[in-house]
Amino acid sequence: MEIDGSVCIVTGASSGIGAATARLLSGLGAQVVLAARRTERLETLARELPGSLTITTDVTSAEQIERLVARTVDTYGRVDVLVNNAGQGLHVPLEELDPVDLRAVFELNVVAPLVGMQAVVPLMRSGSGGSIVNVSSATSLRVFSGLGGYSATKAALNMLSQVAGLEFASAGIGVSVVYPSVTATEFHQRLRAGHLVTGGRSITPDPPELVGRAIAMAIRTGEPHVLVADPPKPIEPGDSDGWGLLLARQAPRPALPSAQAASESKAKASRETGQQGSR
Ligand SMILES: NC(=O)c1ccc[n+]([C@@H]2O[C@H](COP(=O)([O-])OP(=O)(O)OC[C@H]3O[C@@H](n4cnc5c(N)ncnc54)[C@H](OP(=O)(O)O)[C@@H]3O)[C@@H](O)[C@H]2O)c1
Repeated sequence: MEIDGSVCIVTGASSGIGAATARLLSGLGAQVVLAARRTERLETLARELPGSLTITTDVTSAEQIERLVARTVDTYGRVDVLVNNAGQGLHVPLEELDPVDLRAVFELNVVAPLVGMQAVVPLMRSGSGGSIVNVSSATSLRVFSGLGGYSATKAALNMLSQVAGLEFASAGIGVSVVYPSVTATEFHQRLRAGHLVTGGRSITPDPPELVGRAIAMAIRTGEPHVLVADPPKPIEPGDSDGWGLLLARQAPRPALPSAQAASESKAKASRETGQQGSR
């Protein structure tokens, strides 16, 4: 999808990866719709981005997502791109994981992107297709102690995204998952519960702009899986490079009978029916 001239909704645009992505897409010529709950921050960012629109949105409310999409269409006439980026971490060991927290983060990290996709897909179907980018996490591809709740929500998002990719492909809608690693944003100060888990390694966080570049690459190419790296790296399910091996693969489709085999089996069935009838 061509970014220049496109209409892009970015959720979680009030900080971190969402704000960096909105700046990048706007710089590439997109009309950007900034969505999050903190209105003042959105308005401050919008002043930098010509032709952008701010819509205060709590993405866990289906009504507010509907309103976000409706106001975007009222203003620009269409939606070309949805970046489902709003999200929150939940970094506690399983024995301490409060189901109330897990349900809340599941609503934000999984249900909200689903409702967002459901809101834009009919518009994209009736137009000329589009692009959906769901921001996941590299933690959903490996097993880390202390991250079970958060990683489970992002793993669920990965699967929804892959099924969406299959279901929407015929309408010209690309669905991509982007997998950031630890990134220098407010994320680890705003976890629902717990703290940064590094497994004892020293980590240099990526700048949020690097994730923005991976998101822009996903929009342009429709690559289903994009690892945040410099430059961004497509991941092919099944590839033996490490990451590819960790991705679920599409189930093989049952082989369709060849036209000739199908007509032979039809003829055989009709011969058998005829023989039974003459007995
Ligand atoms: N930073 C990392 O290390 C890292 C690593 C892997 C993946 N990620 C993923 O990257 C995405 C962006 O995170 P970030 O690093 O940029 O963190 P961040 O700086 O904390 O930004 C999170 C954004 O989500 C928005 N948000 C939270 N709840 C919302 C709600 N109910 N409705 C609407 N917006 C909501 C916040 O805005 P308001 O509070 O104003 O609503 C904020 O703009 C998340 O999906 C996260 O899981 C981050």
